[in-house]
This record gives sequence, structure tokens and C-alpha cells, in this order.
Amino acid sequence: MSNQNNSNEAAHQPVKRKEMSRRQFLAYTLGGASAFMAMGPVLPMIRFAVDPLLTKESQTSFVKVVEESQVTAEPQEFDFQIHQVDGWYESDPKLTAWISRDEQGNVFALSPVCKHLGCTINWNTQNDNEYHCPCHDAKYTKEGKNLAVAPNPLDEYEVEIRDGFVYLGPVVPNQHV
Ligand code: FES
Repeated sequence: MSNQNNSNEAAHQPVKRKEMSRRQFLAYTLGGASAFMAMGPVLPMIRFAVDPLLTKESQTSFVKVVEESQVTAEPQEFDFQIHQVDGWYESDPKLTAWISRDEQGNVFALSPVCKHLGCTINWNTQNDNEYHCPCHDAKYTKEGKNLAVAPNPLDEYEVEIRDGFVYLGPVVPNQHV
């Protein structure tokens, strides 16, 4: 019975609020304002640091390689340079393409990277009108079809013809075999 009275009395007691002292109020207010002001110079630095990660991967642009009139049915080797940006790292690697025309006369460009273990292939070194890899004797047709050793056809570059010039873009899986 007395327990019930006690709980009733407690229920009617005014709720005691914890008052914030002036010192606490000042500490919170000044702390918040200082943190807000500190973010001013820090935010641009954070933005600068992660900017390359936030920007969309730049599209690989096409590079002018050779006048279209120079391209023959017989594959020829052409070197060209691309500019690439990978996060914070920029470079200008030199690439090679074997460019020729297919039976319809369309220009196509093969990557020189052997699909076995990545050595560099060459055209017609054994007078057999095939690409040949010196490392382990992989062979490919003129269109890049794998004939021996390599498990896949040679990759090719995307090709665009503009104003009489051949432009090469990203490397893609072979579309000709
Ligand atoms: S890397 Fe070309 S045959 Fe092995």
C-alpha cells in the first residue's frame, strides 16, 4: 500500500529538467561555430584531393594515325601516341596498330598484342601471309583469327574515317572473325 502511495507521489512530482549552464552553452556554440568555419578552407582541399575519382572516366578519344589512301590490303604497321589520364597519373604511351583493308575494302586495325602471353606479333615474317608471334609460335590470319597456340583472336582498335584520315580509338574484341 505504501509502495503504491510512493509511486503516486512520484508521478505527481514536477519533472526536473537538466538546465544547461552558461559555460556549456558557450562551449557548444563556440565549438559549433569554429567547426563550421574550419570547414571553409578544408572542403576545397578535400574536393581537390578526390577530384580525379569524382570526375567521370574521360572517354578515350580517337587519334589521327594515317591518311586513308595509304592503307592497303597488305597489313602495315603504324605507331601513334595517345594521352591518357588515370586518376592523378597522366601519360602519353606509344601504341602500335597493324592496319589493312578487309575483302570489302573497309579499313580495320589490329592490336599487336599476342593473345597467348602478350608478346608483340609481326606480319608475314615466315612468308605465309599470317601474323606470327616470336615467343611461342602463335599464328593468326590477316583478320586476326587465332590459328595456333593463342586461345583468342587478336583484339582490334575502333576505327573512324574522317576527312580522309584513319582515326583509332579504344581496343575492343575482334569483330572480323
Ligand atoms: S606470347 Fe605469343 S605465342 Fe606466347
